[in-house]
Amino acid sequence: MINLTVNEKPIELPDGGTVLDAIHLAGFNVPTLCHHPKLTPYGSCRLCLVEIEGSRTLMPSCTVPAAEGMKVHTDTEKTKSARTFILSMLFSERNHFCMYCQTTDGDCDLQTAAYDEGINHWTITPAYKPFYVDTSHPDFILDNNRCILCRRCVRTCSELVGNNTLGLEHRGSASILIADNGIPLGESSCISCGNCVEICPTGALYDRRSMYQGRETDLTQTETVCMDCSLGCTRVVKTRDNRLVRIDSKPEDIHLGGLLCEKGRYAPLNENHQRVKDPLIRRNGELQPIAWDSALACIATQLKAYGGDEISATLSGRLPITTMQKFKSFFQDGFNLESVGLFGHDESAAVSIELAKEFGAFESTLDALEDADAAVVLGANLTTDHQVAGFLIKRKSREDFSLVEVSRDENKLGQNFIKRLIRVGDQYDEIIDLLICYKAKGACREAEQIIQEQGLTAHRANLLLDSLPDWQKPVFILGKDYAKLSNLESLRKTIRFAQEIGAKVIILKGDTNSFAASLLGFELNPGFKAAKIAIFALADGQACGHALEALKKSEFKIVHSAYFNEFTDAADLVLPCKTWAEIDGYYLSTDGRLQFHKQSLTADKEQHSVCDVLNFMADKTGISLQTDWQTGLTQKVSGIIKA
Ligand code: SF4
Ligand code: SF4
Ligand code: SF4
Ligand code: FES
Repeated sequence: MINLTVNEKPIELPDGGTVLDAIHLAGFNVPTLCHHPKLTPYGSCRLCLVEIEGSRTLMPSCTVPAAEGMKVHTDTEKTKSARTFILSMLFSERNHFCMYCQTTDGDCDLQTAAYDEGINHWTITPAYKPFYVDTSHPDFILDNNRCILCRRCVRTCSELVGNNTLGLEHRGSASILIADNGIPLGESSCISCGNCVEICPTGALYDRRSMYQGRETDLTQTETVCMDCSLGCTRVVKTRDNRLVRIDSKPEDIHLGGLLCEKGRYAPLNENHQRVKDPLIRRNGELQPIAWDSALACIATQLKAYGGDEISATLSGRLPITTMQKFKSFFQDGFNLESVGLFGHDESAAVSIELAKEFGAFESTLDALEDADAAVVLGANLTTDHQVAGFLIKRKSREDFSLVEVSRDENKLGQNFIKRLIRVGDQYDEIIDLLICYKAKGACREAEQIIQEQGLTAHRANLLLDSLPDWQKPVFILGKDYAKLSNLESLRKTIRFAQEIGAKVIILKGDTNSFAASLLGFELNPGFKAAKIAIFALADGQACGHALEALKKSEFKIVHSAYFNEFTDAADLVLPCKTWAEIDGYYLSTDGRLQFHKQSLTADKEQHSVCDVLNFMADKTGISLQTDWQTGLTQKVSGIIKA
């Protein structure tokens, strides 16, 4: 521990802290611009200057390590005058005519810092020339005129996302932010995660869709869970007048680095399918409006006529657990269905359940990625799916990290790693055999032969394999292309090897809530045979072509959907559904975290959730719905995932 004083107040700071940490611990504050707690200190803006007794000059508190006996002063005449000067210089260097900026009035750290220092006019005559504005990106705009060269975006892209797209070109005050080697952002290697936009302290990077839609204080903020894959990243949904304005991450979230990917941040804002607004019934070949009461009565009449195999009932993995439980109870208890179905292709949740029968709680939580020093990624493309897990790996390319990847698609996950063994294809067994062989015998003829047969570059493969004995915290990530029921034997071998070398294992499970659905006993893509009556609870999700074919062959087709699509086109009865933003409910992440998703928008009164409809139908048919899922589900999760 380090003992020092801040503004005469004595404090004890853990070793390794900076003067800024000491200032915060002591309950004081100094303005900062280039500093961000998630990024490596950079010390470029100099706004956080403080006086340290014994130092000849003012010191940047964000980069100077705290030392025993230091006496720090944050609010002296000297520090105040330095801050005013620095801010005045920043305002004079580029076009900060704030009245034209979308982040003015409280959303801009630069403007807030100036007001806090009592600056309300230009003290240095602005002498800037125009800088490049890059409007080529579909999701955000870069206006170099408002850039203060703090490099928070650059560091975010490399240190947090591992994408290394952004950099600065030219020197000094002529510097501008560029993508790759100076190509337009929209044509660059940017993967549109938007994390750089969120962290920019000025209006230099801003979202196209949310600009001029209101300041942070005008927006209603709902902290909730991303529904766009099973990682369950925390997201903050920002709305105004019941409109979706922006989606941000929760930077301080300890799970998954508090980041979002493009699917979680921008895809919901880009949703432009036509909403179903009223219940519709097919008459004379045309879908025509019908009252909810009549629609429900029609369903009740149809259901009463059939039972068991004659009914097929399938739902989307994007629905909350309570809805899944009610759906199962309604059809299995009420109509003797042998099983209820889940849309999707991904067997990974079922694979986890199957493997746990042999291995017990063999899976780890995603936190294992944070301090891993090696990863073996089999059958997952972390640059297109579960992308935030990919960020946690890609950003380690700056470290001494070993990456083995077997993926069906060529991708850029491993492009910056020195120690890498990348195989495009599905030779999971062969690569695991190579690791097993090398672990047992080191460089040997057998290993050489596999390297040759697999067409791997020998020196790269050997570089990776030589590091194998040094792996301290390896993680195996098994994705949907490998985690299949038909691969169980191979998966068993892989898990045994992982356990032998002390590696943690994570199986990535497809849709948002597909893990919970599998634990509740839903059958994945259940054969989709034609039925007398087919009920498809799509909500705001989609289903595959086989499902559509089966639907078309069924005699009476009910589709509960938020949007018009080819399933509603084929339906006899269409029910308008709420979307993800309009419902509450529990979700189970791929690593067993039970999370509550909060509603952020209110649906039209004619749109009802799948849960609402099940409640109405239960009333109409006198079926009592079982809603107790939590205890059973939690127990099952603890049998698969180690806390
Ligand atoms: S959006 Fe993401 S990938 Fe693109 S520049 Fe920003 S941080 Fe990098
Ligand atoms: S664009 Fe924003 S975050 Fe990036 S250097 Fe400029 S001001 Fe800083
Ligand atoms: S990784 Fe998945 S949960 Fe996280 S933001 Fe992206 S889509 Fe959402
Ligand atoms: S915040 Fe310390 S130098 Fe920028």
